[in-house]
Amino acid sequence: MEEKKQPPEQKIQIYPTSTGEISPFWREKYERDAKKYWDIFYKRHQDKFFKDRHYLDKEWGQYFSGTDGKVILEVGCGAGNTIFPLLATIPNIFIHACDFSPRAVNLVKLAGVPISQKL
Ligand SMILES: C[S@@+](CC[C@H](N)C(=O)[O-])C[C@H]1O[C@@H](n2cnc3c(N)ncnc32)[C@H](O)[C@@H]1O
Repeated sequence: MEEKKQPPEQKIQIYPTSTGEISPFWREKYERDAKKYWDIFYKRHQDKFFKDRHYLDKEWGQYFSGTDGKVILEVGCGAGNTIFPLLATIPNIFIHACDFSPRAVNLVKLAGVPISQKL
């Protein structure tokens, strides 16, 4: 019996491979000033850039099953696009959220007033 040959797998590269490392100067600058850049980002975009992540209860719901209340820590909460959908869909959770951008923290504080007992 003749074996049918499969066509060779075709690979498509969407993004070019990085041709080199970021220079130590820029790497250190971005590390050192990350807080400043993120704060400028929130000054410019407020809470309009990221969309709420409404799919998280589907992906993480298993971790929150049961009746006992879970406590979550989100490091880098931004404007709250992860924590607010979680609070809306998963009952009985409490979230501690932090971010090194003071503007991001302020956005969360303003939006979180109605649910402050869970945040
Ligand atoms: C891509 S945004 C994601 C925001 C949010 N978690 C969401 O789901 O939309 C990353 C966030 O992490 C924060 N961040 C990055 N590095 C951090 C650090 N070392 N400590 C605290 N926050 C940090 C940034 O300020 C930014 O708000």
